[in-house]
Amino acid sequence: MIITLNHAESKTGQSYYLPDGHELVTIGPYSYIFGQLLVDFYGQHSHIRIGKFCSIKGPITFLTGGSNHRSEWISTYPFLEKAQLFDDSDAIYRTGKKTNYASGPTTIGNDVWIGYDCSIREGVTVGDGAIIGMKALVAKDVPPYSVVGGVPARILRYRFSQKIIERLLKVQWWHWPAELIEQHTQLLCSLPDEAQLEQMERIAKG
Ligand SMILES: CC(C)(COP(=O)(O)OP(=O)(O)OC[C@H]1O[C@@H](n2cnc3c(N)ncnc32)[C@H](O)[C@@H]1OP(=O)(O)O)[C@@H](O)C(=O)NCCC(=O)NCCS
Repeated sequence: MIITLNHAESKTGQSYYLPDGHELVTIGPYSYIFGQLLVDFYGQHSHIRIGKFCSIKGPITFLTGGSNHRSEWISTYPFLEKAQLFDDSDAIYRTGKKTNYASGPTTIGNDVWIGYDCSIREGVTVGDGAIIGMKALVAKDVPPYSVVGGVPARILRYRFSQKIIERLLKVQWWHWPAELIEQHTQLLCSLPDEAQLEQMERIAKG
């Protein structure tokens, strides 16, 4: 089943629920999706959590809810799920094992920029501050403040030095109260030089 969400953006965040009430997608405050967000959903309860202040250019596709077949079995064919295609479907239902399995929740951190037409595999975590280049296939976790791209996505570079990344991850500006963020947008739209980092650390300390 493909679930399509169009042009999401909200100051307070928003969620998408399955008809049975299960929360399938959570989009954090201030994050926006320009274009379509497609969830290729395989029926098992799972969760896609998108953090705060993310910029996402659709189309973006998430696979979730049991999108994996068993590569270690002799056949990857989902006999149980397709039992209705067989003459003795009852026998297959009785003896068959479920092929599809889920690989956990998918998490997109905060202040993540995702370029045009990316696909995100079930169960991956994209770290805070990361950039995903257009047309990427994200098949494994993406470290914070890295820039990744390609099929499968590989690290192209880090946005800042490890020292700066550590400091930014400590101040977590996206969790500051909204009025503080509003007051300091100029700071957030500048280079992370020593003076800026020290100012952020002072703000974070309160
Ligand atoms: C990923 C991205 C941010 C990288 O930008 P950048 O840091 O300026 O990168 P550069 O152009 O300097 O390229 C650096 C390397 O990454 C490669 N690269 C750039 N974009 C790539 C992508 N999307 N996928 C794979 N490789 C990519 C370049 O070929 C180059 O490789 P090389 O070092 O072997 O020569 C940018 O290319 C991108 O995809 N932006 C998203 C644009 C978009 O979708 N906008 C929608 C509106 S928000």
